[in-house]
Amino acid sequence: MTTAPRAATPALPDAQTVTSVTHWTDRLFSFRVTRPASLRFRSGEFVMIGLMGDPDPRTGRQKPLLRAYSIASPSWDEELEFYSIKVPDGPLTSRLQHIQPGDQIILRPKPVGTLVHDALLPGDRLWFFATGTGFAPFASLLRDPETYERFDRVIVTHTCRDVAELEYGRQLIASFKTDELMVELLGEDALAKLTYYPTTTREASPKMGRITDLLRDGTVLRDLGVDAIRADTDRAMVCGSMGLNTDLKEILEGFGLREGANSDPKHYVVEKAFVG
Ligand code: A2P
Repeated sequence: MTTAPRAATPALPDAQTVTSVTHWTDRLFSFRVTRPASLRFRSGEFVMIGLMGDPDPRTGRQKPLLRAYSIASPSWDEELEFYSIKVPDGPLTSRLQHIQPGDQIILRPKPVGTLVHDALLPGDRLWFFATGTGFAPFASLLRDPETYERFDRVIVTHTCRDVAELEYGRQLIASFKTDELMVELLGEDALAKLTYYPTTTREASPKMGRITDLLRDGTVLRDLGVDAIRADTDRAMVCGSMGLNTDLKEILEGFGLREGANSDPKHYVVEKAFVG
């Protein structure tokens, strides 16, 4: 008689295994997990991930504690990558920041989101505007060859408090020139289309200021040699804090761009980066 092997610990629902963790600063970390074989997603989408919550003191029952996280890896990657803030008293991230390779997390395999190519009309230039961990969906889209097939120029702006907080994005973009797989996948033509525009607000760096202010006073356009942002040529995706999203919407609407959706593609789309 054969008996089925017993798991040492009860398996989590929708469990995936952590394969690597990188701590970028005391506020930021990224991690990679196994990818469910059946999970298909479009670069830029998010899924719900999390951990089991503490047992209810009365019933002893545990409920999953889940939050929306953009998938930072591209759709072709065999693992899934996430980029997260650490909030000391955040219900999820106060615990999630301690995960180690081999640990399990919960991942609901139902990707959704508006930061996808399908939600934008064709155009010449694509802008990604990110603050903080709002860079995550663009880390996915920047590694997707489709992004460069669809547009002649791709401009990614990333505003963080200090230089160290830019590092995840900076290293990722630098790897497009040094990582053999990325060089082969994206090719020189794609790289020639890409412009990276990092800014900081609380520490000196070559370009300081909120991207919103730099757009309003014309600095970004001057720096990048762009005449104007216009509805017939420019498309944009925005991901950051509520404040950034609201302010950039107003700026883009002022340029004549209109907000799109999966079912109604237009000129720009917005998603809030998860905080806490
Ligand atoms: P600031 O330092 O002026 O607040 P956080 O780490 O708090 O999420 O912020 C990430 C970056 O986003 C910071 O550089 C912050 O600038 C910037 N930021 C916050 N709110 C806005 C906004 N409404 N428009 C543009 N940038 C913003």
